[in-house]
Amino acid sequence: MHLSPEIEERLAQLQEKYAAMGQDMPAYLDGLLYADFLTYWDYIHLDTLLSLQSPKTPFPDEEIFIIYHQITELYFKLMLHECKQITEAQPLTNHFFTARLQRINRYFEALTQSFEIMVDGMEKEQFLKFRMSLLPASGFQSGQYRMIEIYATDFINLVEKDKRAELRDSPIEDQFEHLYWKSGATELATGKKTLTLKQFEKKYGKTFIDLGKANTNHNFNALLQQLKYKGESNSELENELRQLDVNVNVNWPLSHYKSAVRYLQREPEEIKATGGTNWQKYLPPRFQKRIFYPSLWTEQDVENWGKGWVEKIVGSVQ
Ligand code: HEM
Repeated sequence: MHLSPEIEERLAQLQEKYAAMGQDMPAYLDGLLYADFLTYWDYIHLDTLLSLQSPKTPFPDEEIFIIYHQITELYFKLMLHECKQITEAQPLTNHFFTARLQRINRYFEALTQSFEIMVDGMEKEQFLKFRMSLLPASGFQSGQYRMIEIYATDFINLVEKDKRAELRDSPIEDQFEHLYWKSGATELATGKKTLTLKQFEKKYGKTFIDLGKANTNHNFNALLQQLKYKGESNSELENELRQLDVNVNVNWPLSHYKSAVRYLQREPEEIKATGGTNWQKYLPPRFQKRIFYPSLWTEQDVENWGKGWVEKIVGSVQ
């Protein structure tokens, strides 16, 4: 049989590869001979993926709710994949940093734009029934969402705004006790942690603290300051960071808030949120002023954080 030069060249390369590792090349060629051809469905584990929806009620719209949460978590996973590459890059160039931030921003924008699937895509009557079977679980318990925040900024910027000055030099363990999201899951009447929060902290508390410590000098805000110090930051990078700040701390929270208004707002009294919390005081970005990159905004930007939009969005879904 005639072997083309291309095949001969590949065989020689393979021989070199296997010889270097002391391996028997014909055995590997047998493996190739007997192996099945790869299929699309096996490669992406499609059957497993499609078997991961287990509604707790017979309401058809619960399936939409589950799948959209799963889609969101997959996007979060993509974001964390980029976050890790940024913090681990040696050396980190502003070019690489910017390119990876652009990816994260694209993912967040896809989520913000698609949130209408939640806002308009389920029957309110079905939602209000099936949600009662899901208590005390809440999207609040998304660990990946919080990890993205811990990659994006210094831990202190995630502390509730009235405690930031006081805790600026405190250990991360102390700052952790005052992270902004604790107030989103504290019972209004008693001031006690909700079960939603207790379970969340039990599962992820240590992971968040460890990640915060590991990222002290590698979170995006710290990396920005280091590049600035070396004179290597530029406007493209800073614009991308500003965009991330707006995507995570204003745009996504607002489209999410819109769904809470659509399903949970009822005159004269609001329908209780999962943890018995006041979601109307907690969810709108203008109250908490979560800002990842304070040095990139003017005082006026900070003053107006998340304003303007809220009235528009809430007004359109009544
Ligand atoms: C109909 C759709 C939705 C409604 C009505 C809704 C409602 C709420 C409410 C009321 C809260 C406040 C905490 C609580 O009491 O549970 C919350 C928090 C949260 N939800 Fe949703 N949610 C919806 C969809 C989603 C989706 C699709 C995700 C994607 C993972 C998500 C992720 C979150 C996160 C990350 C928080 C915490 C936000 C923060 O701490 O600022 N939610 N949600």
